[in-house]
Parts: sequence; structure tokens; C-alpha cells
Amino acid sequence: MEANGVPTHFVDRPSAKEMRVKSVKIIPLEVVVRNIAAGSLCLQTGLKLGTNLQPSLVEFYYKNDHLGDPLLTRDRLRLLDLATDDQVDQLIKMAQWINDLLMGFFQQCGITLVDFKLEFGVDAAQQILLADEISPDTCRLWNQSETDPDRRVMDKDRFRRDLGNVEEAYQQVLKRILDQGV
Ligand code: TMP
Repeated sequence: MEANGVPTHFVDRPSAKEMRVKSVKIIPLEVVVRNIAAGSLCLQTGLKLGTNLQPSLVEFYYKNDHLGDPLLTRDRLRLLDLATDDQVDQLIKMAQWINDLLMGFFQQCGITLVDFKLEFGVDAAQQILLADEISPDTCRLWNQSETDPDRRVMDKDRFRRDLGNVEEAYQQVLKRILDQGV
């Protein structure tokens, strides 16, 4: 993301198991981008799994376990003082930009990016930075070589839906990413 100009909290990796990041104040929102209907969108709207979403949806969920991470509207974001209108506009723009980059990246890996979640933080200069992992734990990824709705799943839904072969699927994602020379 940094290499493509997206401002992130990433500084460097001193070792294989360590990452240095900039200190930020996390905005308590899960920003979810959806390209294809799945998960809670289908459960809450009745949309059919696999429906193409054009344009992609950008949604905000309040990070609050006690309240069950509810979906928020722009008005509710303002009401709760979670983000200013300007910050909401910036978050939407950054989420769409990251989506464009990730969709292209996963396409080259033969993987469809169904949806994903991002978190952002604000640094000392009030700049919004992407401050999250991007992994099969936080994305829905479908193998383009499989048509079967269970076999194509390469993400945490394998665990959530007890589909088995979780580690194999994650290893396959890693292999395809490494094969891109990343
Ligand atoms: P959802 O369909 O359950 O709302 O999830 C949308 C995307 O967000 C999916 O790729 C999984 C990811 N996600 C997280 O990374 N953490 C979470 O706590 C939730 C609810 C979803």
C-alpha cells in the first residue's frame, strides 16, 4: 500500500515476526468494502450470495463489542462524534483506493476479492493513516479456479463455517502472493 502511495502506519520489519508502526489514535470504526454480496450483507438484506455490487459498497461499523458492532449511517457518525464529515469523505476515498489496488493485486493471483475490513488511525499531524493488517482473516477471498461455493473459499469463512482445510487455504493464498514476486 505504501509503495502505491497510500499513507499507512507501517514503518519497517526489523525481523520476520516484528513490525514497527507509527503511533496513531485509532478511529473506532470498521470500514468494510464489498464488491460481491456475502456475509452480513446477505443476512441483513436478503441479497443473494455472489451478487455483483456496482459500485462497491463502503460501510461503517462501530467498533463496540457491547453494542455488537452496529452498522452506522453518516448522520450517526456525526451524532456520535466518531468522525467529521471531512474525515468520512477521506475514509471513503481511501477505502475505494485501497479496494482498487487490492482487487487488481488479487486478480493477478487468480483470487476474487469479495469484501474486506479496514481500520484507520489519526497521527500527531491529524493525517488519517491505514492502520490494520490485510489478510485472509480480514478479507473474503474466492479461488477463481473453483466454482463450488464451499471449495472456492480461501479465507476465515473456512473457520467460521467449519469448512476445514483452513491452514491449507491460507498457505495457498501466501503461495500465490509470493509467486507474484511480492
Ligand atoms: P461481514 O460480512 O461479517 O460484515 O464481514 C465483512 C468483511 O469484514 C469480511 O471480509 C470479514 C471482515 N470482518 C473482519 O475482519 N472483522 C470483523 O470483526 C467483522 C465483523 C468482519
